Amino acid sequence: MKKDYVSIGLLGLGTVGSGVVQLVENHQDELVHQLGCGVKVKSILVRNTEKERDIQIGQTFLTSNPDDVLQDPEIDLVVEVMGGIEEAKEHITKAIQAKKNVVTANKDLIALHGPELQKAAVENGVDLFYEASVGGGIPILRGLTEGLVSDRLKKVMGIVNGTTNYILTKMEEEGQSYETALKKAQELGFAEADPTADVEGLDAARKMAILARLAFSTSVALDDVEVEGISKLSLEDLHYGQKLGYSMKLIGFAQVDDHKVEVTVQPTFLSKSHPLSSVKNEYNAIYVQGEAVGETMFYGPGAGSLPTATAVMADVVAVIKNLLLGVNGKSAVAPRYESVLKSPKERFGQFYFRLHLADEVGAFSQITTLFNELGISFEKILQTPLNKGELAEIIIVTHTVSLENFQEALMKLRDLSVVKDVISYYRVEGNGEK
Ligand code: NAP
Ligand code: HSE
Repeated sequence: MKKDYVSIGLLGLGTVGSGVVQLVENHQDELVHQLGCGVKVKSILVRNTEKERDIQIGQTFLTSNPDDVLQDPEIDLVVEVMGGIEEAKEHITKAIQAKKNVVTANKDLIALHGPELQKAAVENGVDLFYEASVGGGIPILRGLTEGLVSDRLKKVMGIVNGTTNYILTKMEEEGQSYETALKKAQELGFAEADPTADVEGLDAARKMAILARLAFSTSVALDDVEVEGISKLSLEDLHYGQKLGYSMKLIGFAQVDDHKVEVTVQPTFLSKSHPLSSVKNEYNAIYVQGEAVGETMFYGPGAGSLPTATAVMADVVAVIKNLLLGVNGKSAVAPRYESVLKSPKERFGQFYFRLHLADEVGAFSQITTLFNELGISFEKILQTPLNKGELAEIIIVTHTVSLENFQEALMKLRDLSVVKDVISYYRVEGNGEK
């Protein structure tokens, strides 16, 4: 197929859509050089065609009728950057049925319905690409599916939500309260319209489901991801973590052993020597461990107009190259394995926990006896007197232990009369223990 230009249609002209329009306009030379033809935005679906826009765009490009994009025979490629789930799914399905290729930045939709949409795309001989759904401008999905394709990947660990990383950085480094830091992240535009998905870990969980599927070729569903957010974190724990040489991060963690997976999103104390601990503010990074490649890390802006638009445009270029070669719908690879989750017995890690203990003779030895019985040993211990010496605040970091044993230890700990309260516990990563 030889063309002077390829016409694309956009669903949405917000933060990401505006960036796409700007890149198409301002980087046309680069696109022509890569493709041998130009790229034109033909029409754009918006909610309100009269709204004032951050970019200059002729009124004739805008429409509030989806069919102007989805049923236009001149449009070969639909870029969905409107967000939301049901309506976006309906439009993408319609585009696929009309044999149009689709590029989307919609992590919410791909995490929930990616596999069925991908199947429909293959059946209709079109591409469905979604690089921008994880890590904004970081080319992580192609990193996994092309750069590291020949390897057997074992672990993917990432900071995949910019809002929570911004909040945690400001709490740790500037002592800001959670509320102040969240408000600032909202003002700066990283947070979702309703930031609950950011702070409760759901946004990161959606991204981790997508990463785990591609990294391990496994049909991981969103419900397979165990999620805990950062809204209940206290400054006290962050300070103790700092004293012990850790940074607190909301970590997405995915690991596979014998085709069984573990995928979690949880606040995690990271050793300051781990490369992810130096990722600050709204930046994202994804650390990948493979049998052959060893350790790699992908770092960059996880959100924002132009960074996210570069990921969208990478997909646009890939679709157009396939169009020119006549091979659309042929590159998607279905998962090789059904998702089987590891049991707590098969999951291992180090843990930090904080408790209040009666400050009396023999109290601490009751704790050590309990942990000894479960084969758990301690790596670090901190003790501070509380309430004029009546209580002691104890912070313990365990050596590597199975999740099953750690959970049992916590349960038994709560039954000891000398233990007044178990305040908090978090996973610890990056101490160099396997
Ligand atoms: P946004 O700024 O809220 O823009 C959404 C756009 O879609 C607006 O132009 C809006 O029209 C249009 N739209 C929304 N619902 C519509 C509907 N029902 N019918 C017609 N038009 C509709 O969103 P965004 O931040 O660009 O995000 C877009 C997508 O990219 C989302 O899936 C998001 O998760 C994903 N993403 C965003 C980022 C980021 O940094 N923002 C990063 C990675 C991925 P009006 O302009 O008329 O209101
Ligand atoms: N709210 C998201 C974040 C935007 O903070 O990472 C990018 O997906």
